[in-house]
Amino acid sequence: MPALKVPKTEAEPVKRKLKKLNLYDGKRRPKKEDNFVLLPVIEDRRIYSLGYEVLPIELPFRPERQIYKNLESVLVERLSKEELKYLRRYDVIGDIAVIQIPSQLEHRVDDIVWGLRKVHPFLKVIAKKGFHKGAFRIRDYSILWGEGRLETIHKENGVEIKVDLSKVFFNPRMKGERYRLAQLVRDGERVLIPFAGVLPYALVIARYRRVKITAVELNREAYELGLENIERNRKRLKGNIEFIHGDAFKVLPELPSYDRVISPTPRGVDALALTLSKAREWLHYYDFVHEDELDAFRRKILDECSRQGKRCEIKVKKVSDFKPHVFKVCADVRIFLE
Ligand SMILES: C[S@@+](CC[C@H](N)C(=O)[O-])C[C@H]1O[C@@H](n2cnc3c(N)ncnc32)[C@H](O)[C@@H]1O
Repeated sequence: MPALKVPKTEAEPVKRKLKKLNLYDGKRRPKKEDNFVLLPVIEDRRIYSLGYEVLPIELPFRPERQIYKNLESVLVERLSKEELKYLRRYDVIGDIAVIQIPSQLEHRVDDIVWGLRKVHPFLKVIAKKGFHKGAFRIRDYSILWGEGRLETIHKENGVEIKVDLSKVFFNPRMKGERYRLAQLVRDGERVLIPFAGVLPYALVIARYRRVKITAVELNREAYELGLENIERNRKRLKGNIEFIHGDAFKVLPELPSYDRVISPTPRGVDALALTLSKAREWLHYYDFVHEDELDAFRRKILDECSRQGKRCEIKVKKVSDFKPHVFKVCADVRIFLE
């Protein structure tokens, strides 16, 4: 990602302007250099016409992106080198930290809690995370320390998202993905989001773009939190969100088609034909794919496109590791109607 070299005295107004134009890369940190500040920007042709030098450098990520390293460095005091190898990445959701504790570290829980509190003094709850279960993809958690709750308000991409981890799915690691999609969406689009959860994608997109979003979710608790999230963010949203409680497989056939469909598909569910049938220009389809099956995944989408009489171009992007050799991927499908 490039950086804009701006005189120190102009840094703040230029930063505000970049944010307004959605050109500022909030995931990275600005850097001072003599009388200049290097501002992180996203790759976009508009950055070359702002009257400032564009440097092809990678500014460092903000500290929250390097959280894991901090915990490790704190725990060096208490855990052996061998034990540190088993330390897993963790997430901070609002004031709750969630971490996987492998069996090799069960006897070190108190030290891990101590370390997390040292790195994040604002934490109110620390929970051990288990696996996602059932159609609603709710994770199993047990509270290790703090207040006995799994409800919190998480801030991301300029919106506030209320979640209750004991009742709904939520993945803070998709923050970058949500930002990426929000940048792809253009004002005026009509967007459909089935499997919408507590609305993280819808809120982030509506925060940045003047769009009309229709979202669908089956889990009643997620639906209700989603409605609360729309109200909570009302003043921040440029776009409009209509939220439907129901089964996407029953609701979508009754809906019209949309410029763009975003499908954060639950694991194990095949919603490709359904979501593609509702997409006019773009489908962003998430799935879990073994690295040896990426070509087959691409072919499956192309076959479905031709079955539906759509000419498609597909880019498959690895979004995150899921388990060894298996990735969460997003297929960005561009549709040209024949
Ligand atoms: C992988 S989660 C994604 C949630 C949300 N988009 C997010 O990123 O936080 C899948 C969501 O689909 C919902 N779901 C599962 N089956 C559904 C169905 N048939 N119709 C609508 N929603 C469904 C689950 O309750 C869950 O909230």
